[in-house]
Amino acid sequence: MPEEVIIVRESPNLSGTVRVSGAKNSALKLIAASILGQGATTLENVPLISDIDIMCEVLERLGATVERDGHSLCIDTAPVESFETPYELVTKMRASISVLGPLVGRFGQARVAMPGGCQIGARNIDMHLVGLQQLGVEFAVDHGILVATTPKGLHGGSILLDFPSVGATENTMMAACVAEGETIIDNAAREPEIEDLANMLNAMGAHIEGAGTSTVTIVGVPLEDMHACSHATVGDRIEAGTFLAGGALLGGPLTVEGIDPASLRMALTKLEAMGCDVQVGDDFVTVSRVNPLQAADIQTLPHPGFPTDLQAQFMLLTALAQGSSIITENVFENRFMFAAEICRMGADVAIDEHHAVVTGVDRLQGAPVESTDLRAGAALVLAGLAAEGETIVRHIQHIDRGYENYVGKLQSLGADIERATVELGG
Ligand code: UD1
Repeated sequence: MPEEVIIVRESPNLSGTVRVSGAKNSALKLIAASILGQGATTLENVPLISDIDIMCEVLERLGATVERDGHSLCIDTAPVESFETPYELVTKMRASISVLGPLVGRFGQARVAMPGGCQIGARNIDMHLVGLQQLGVEFAVDHGILVATTPKGLHGGSILLDFPSVGATENTMMAACVAEGETIIDNAAREPEIEDLANMLNAMGAHIEGAGTSTVTIVGVPLEDMHACSHATVGDRIEAGTFLAGGALLGGPLTVEGIDPASLRMALTKLEAMGCDVQVGDDFVTVSRVNPLQAADIQTLPHPGFPTDLQAQFMLLTALAQGSSIITENVFENRFMFAAEICRMGADVAIDEHHAVVTGVDRLQGAPVESTDLRAGAALVLAGLAAEGETIVRHIQHIDRGYENYVGKLQSLGADIERATVELGG
């Protein structure tokens, strides 16, 4: 079977300037939030990636019209009449669950297929449900569909999340915009994308304060008072962190533009601890490195802690650093799949539950490897640039989910890399 792959050859450096796209994790939720506007919302700086295509399909299936012009999306949600999101779309992308809050807000009900493996009360969406229940939403499961109803209407509530879940904070916040009275979400996630979503909802007529802190307060407004708006998506801090890891790996100087450096503070601190020089401006960061990388201990945590979405890229740096590093994954279980692939390239990584002990090696060797997920895929491509010989990265559909023109951007920084369709077994 022919398969599209990324072929990466050892490259002397990655240097120059690259502009990051809009944040995937923000744009997905902004698209969902447009349901509450009941009109034609314009979103700018929307990345050209496949996850966004799926979210647009979710909206179209609900009845919205979606027009794209480059990085701008116009979504008219006035014609939306359906409040059901089918299984085939939810299984393609778990983030489809973020239409739950807006649909409940708009229709007082929703039918969203359960993401695979989830049950009410079990992990994964339990906190979304607990948050919405505090607003008066009742849930049942009907043949794999999560059925949400609001027999007594939506009302404000006081919510204390077990863990600062990004998705649960967003879903609860979106529904609370049109609930009667005040809602307080404590232990809310503080990711910059939550602040971006709140800014858009406020531009649509909502009253949200505190987004980006642990306590978010929402004073509900009538649904009729919500309207469409125009909003530009915040820059993608994870894409930025990925390129910066590439610059740190090969030396740079490499500049990423289009992000707020404060959103990457912990990652930049780790780059400095590993021996890199980091310069920040208003909306750019430059990384460079002359001396060998030094080992570092990294633990992923909710923002402003070290982002789990940069864990694989930084594991790559530690794999080529002097000394031993410990990486602890606290946000997701089973997120060390990258380690197995990078070990095939000669890295020395030992996993013990949610800890990885990485002992730096002098060189990596090119090899055929598989992207196991979006971030692991991006990191494997970077690994190929530093590895002896040629690396073939397979299953690149994972990379296309979240990185716009990854290969083209890396080429512009001097990488010897191409997409190619090849015959591969297996
Ligand atoms: C979002 C991001 C993802 C990022 C993650 C953490 C999107 C589309 N994805 O995912 O890239 O890695 O934030 O920054 O924005 N959990 C539960 N019950 C719940 C909700 C979550 O147990 O109801 C668990 C999850 O299984 C996970 C952890 O909490 O172990 C964090 O999840 P959460 O913060 O909700 O991440 P997502 O919103 O899914």
